[in-house]
Amino acid sequence: MYMNTKLETSILLNQYHIKNRLVMAPMCMYQSDDTGIVKPFHEAHYYMHALGGIGLVMVEATAIDPNGRISLNDLGIWSDDHIKGLGVLSSRIKEAGSISCIQINHAGRKAVGHDILGPSSIQLEGKEHVPKEMTLEDISHTIKNFQNAAMRADKAGFDMVEIHAAHGYLVSQFMSPLSNERNDAYGLKHQFLNDVIQAVKEVWPVEKAISVRISGTEYHHEGFDIDDVIEILKACDLDRVDIIHVSSGGNIRPNVTSFEEGYQLPLARKIKQQLNMKTIGGGLLKDHIIGEHALIHEDCDMVFYGRLLLRDPFYFLRHIDSLEFPTPYKRGKLTP
Ligand SMILES: Cc1cc2nc3c(=O)[nH]c(=O)nc-3n(C[C@H](O)[C@H](O)[C@H](O)COP(=O)(O)O)c2cc1C
Repeated sequence: MYMNTKLETSILLNQYHIKNRLVMAPMCMYQSDDTGIVKPFHEAHYYMHALGGIGLVMVEATAIDPNGRISLNDLGIWSDDHIKGLGVLSSRIKEAGSISCIQINHAGRKAVGHDILGPSSIQLEGKEHVPKEMTLEDISHTIKNFQNAAMRADKAGFDMVEIHAAHGYLVSQFMSPLSNERNDAYGLKHQFLNDVIQAVKEVWPVEKAISVRISGTEYHHEGFDIDDVIEILKACDLDRVDIIHVSSGGNIRPNVTSFEEGYQLPLARKIKQQLNMKTIGGGLLKDHIIGEHALIHEDCDMVFYGRLLLRDPFYFLRHIDSLEFPTPYKRGKLTP
């Protein structure tokens, strides 16, 4: 069962030697409450996944603004009151030997509650609220909130921050012609993303890592495709961005109905080649085999796993030989 793999080789991101190429994908657990504060569940959950040997553990989409929550049970980073609980997550993750990352997000027109904002007043199919078109003041306030969130993430001890610019949330709404029909500077599809990146960089320590998660396509003839995304990224100042985390979809119901294992890897490959940047790729991976192939064929530099890890947090302990079983669990390790 055990094998030596490329997945187990270390990688340098900024100053961090990440022990392997495995990434736990950010996944909202909806286990907080209206306060957005970390609960015992989150402490156990992220600690467990770091104990499972994952090199880079990403904490779920965490709201930079109470108006930007995906659900009323999201984790929050909109207030200094959140720092303490988030600090427990980053220290648990690091204590178990992993690098800690937090994804910061504003859901824009996909948010719950009132005062729903978006780049333009275009309703998302199936949502009851029509978003209010953001004023320039709303925009600069939101960029500031991303910056404040990054500052808090640093205070909470995270090694890496990820800007959520995927899945049809606010940043990707600005990137898409399906949700952004503005006539001002923010009608340019890269502008908001770029401003958020620069605002984060202003406060994020140079020795710490930065990731940007993007959707590589919207699977819709009127939405952006991979070439548009590459143009958008090229128009941004990506200096100090260490890695692009490549997902897809989320802003509209896709025209495609079924997806195969590793379906987002070609998107990661194209970005890696055309931007000459490191990428994280994956999507529907059911085991280590296609992830391993993706690294060998240079589709990406790291591989994200989501649902596999929800099913089986210790999957990689059993399938990658060099991963250390946590000492108290060593007697559970099967010999090959
Ligand atoms: C329960 C759940 C919650 C998710 N929450 C987030 C999130 O907070 N941020 C994000 O970028 N993606 C989120 N995703 C998408 C995953 O990060 C990942 O891209 C997706 O599950 C595909 O990978 P997989 O096939 O390995 O699960 C979520 C997915 C699931 C299943």
